[in-house]
Amino acid sequence: MQATVSLFPADAMVTRVGCIGAGYVGGPTCAVIALKCPDIRVTVCDMNPTRIGQWNSDKLPVFEPGLDEIVQKCRGVNLFFTTDVVATIQESEVLFISVNTPTKTYGHGKGRAANLKYVESVAREIAKVARGNKIVVEKSTVPVKSAQSIADILKANRNSQNKFQVLSNPEFLAEGTAIEDLLNPDRILIGGEDSPDGWKAIETLSSVYKRWIPADRIITMNTWSSELSKLVANAFLAQRISAINAVSAVCEATGADVGQVALAVGKDSRIGPRFLQASVGFGGSCFQKDILNLVYICESLNLPEVAEFWLNVVSINDYQKQRFAKRIVNCLFNTVSGKRIAIMGFAFKKNTGDTRESAAIYVSAHLLEEGARLAVYDPKVEADQVTRDLNNVTGTPDVVRDQVEVCSDPYEAARGAHALVICTEWDVFQTLDYARIFAGMPKPAYVFDGRKILDHEKLTKIGFEVETIGKRVRNVSQSHPAAITNGAGSGDGAAGLNSCEDATGPDSEMTL
Ligand code: UDX
Ligand code: ADP
Repeated sequence: MQATVSLFPADAMVTRVGCIGAGYVGGPTCAVIALKCPDIRVTVCDMNPTRIGQWNSDKLPVFEPGLDEIVQKCRGVNLFFTTDVVATIQESEVLFISVNTPTKTYGHGKGRAANLKYVESVAREIAKVARGNKIVVEKSTVPVKSAQSIADILKANRNSQNKFQVLSNPEFLAEGTAIEDLLNPDRILIGGEDSPDGWKAIETLSSVYKRWIPADRIITMNTWSSELSKLVANAFLAQRISAINAVSAVCEATGADVGQVALAVGKDSRIGPRFLQASVGFGGSCFQKDILNLVYICESLNLPEVAEFWLNVVSINDYQKQRFAKRIVNCLFNTVSGKRIAIMGFAFKKNTGDTRESAAIYVSAHLLEEGARLAVYDPKVEADQVTRDLNNVTGTPDVVRDQVEVCSDPYEAARGAHALVICTEWDVFQTLDYARIFAGMPKPAYVFDGRKILDHEKLTKIGFEVETIGKRVRNVSQSHPAAITNGAGSGDGAAGLNSCEDATGPDSEMTL
């Protein structure tokens, strides 16, 4: 590219930003840009008219604390939602691509590689209809070198008068705290081509973020580093969770408390306390997908040892979900057939209605396979979403129809249930009237706290049998406090063992 040709002058004021894809990333991101840049007209488009209809209604398609207020303030002023993809492309100087990049379910790279068909079709559409120069910003999480693919498609199909610069600007927002993360991010990462036009494009995009983000938090680098950084950041976060979840299994086998171990470990300033909360397993649209994507890249680059290292993060997560689900069955006297079980929380984390890869889906599917009847309660997940997820995972819609009830009230879900299974850490679960719930349950009444959020001592005082992650709770039915054993099933360690040990594990003898 000619160093003298200035496509995007550094001092050019951006006046129109567009975004293709009105999902969990595109919607909130653009809402915050509109809020912070009142002089920029921000248009978010999507090919799904239902989704756009929801963005234009009082019930937004995405639940995020603080989002409603921002949309209400900006919508119709400088924030617009439309299905008109062509007009959005044509009128925008900076164009975010924020479409879905799910894991491939077919062909080469099945189960690992990201499916880039939506990104590719958007790139082709931009090349076809764009008028004038554009900065195209890759916001969706994509494999390394995707920006190059987008640039190649744009170049091969463009009208000769148009010029494009492709930037990587990965989003680090977490669901449930998206608005806070967007308003006050740890960093903004922008990767671009190492050329004068590339630098200008980076500067132009930076000028938008600089309206509310200190310049020292805006990091610029080459495109490939930026793309890889996003995958690696998610892989590191997920790795921490799998690490503490692996430790939780050791804690259960030995009598240590994973919360205490996490506290001690996290106090080391080199490690830090965040993302050390042991749980039933991580979910969400990013962690598993991005790690599998990284694994695929490593395999493609003939780095099998590296691929295996990262794959283990996902394997431990699967192990954790299975372990928890099996423990429920074991505790309920090895059979849940025909028993009502309350699934408390279906979203993959609190403060979101998103269920993608939620551990609750896998725990529920396991219990359904064992013949349980499920009563599902989640404050933000709609009934048809629960049904869709369980149909997809089990492949048995008849079973889902006959054995799953979605309740709109937690007490209704708990009534008559043999067990409460906490899958999502919703705050509301901490303040329920558990004495009232206990009274309406067959005995022994179990609580399986997959999020470690409840007051276990209080629950056992009420009379519940409590099982949680990475810690043995001293239950009413146990005559001894949990004894510390070596976890190898030697000696008479079983005396203090919980009767719910995994039947497949070393301490497999059940004491009924
Ligand atoms: C993640 C990244 O945090 C974010 O930067 C990226 O942009 C998208 O992916 P998200 O998936 O929305 O965000 O949520 P996150 O808060 O990371 O939680 C992911 C999963 O891990 C949830 O199921 C959560 O409950 C679980 N988790 C998180 C734990 O089990 N323990 C922890 O200590 C932290
Ligand atoms: P994310 O979590 O990454 O935001 P979502 O699945 O929530 O992903 O949103 C992606 C959105 O992108 C969907 O609403 C989908 O309809 C939209 N989309 C995908 N391909 C296109 C396209 N070619 N043109 C317009 N919108 C698209």
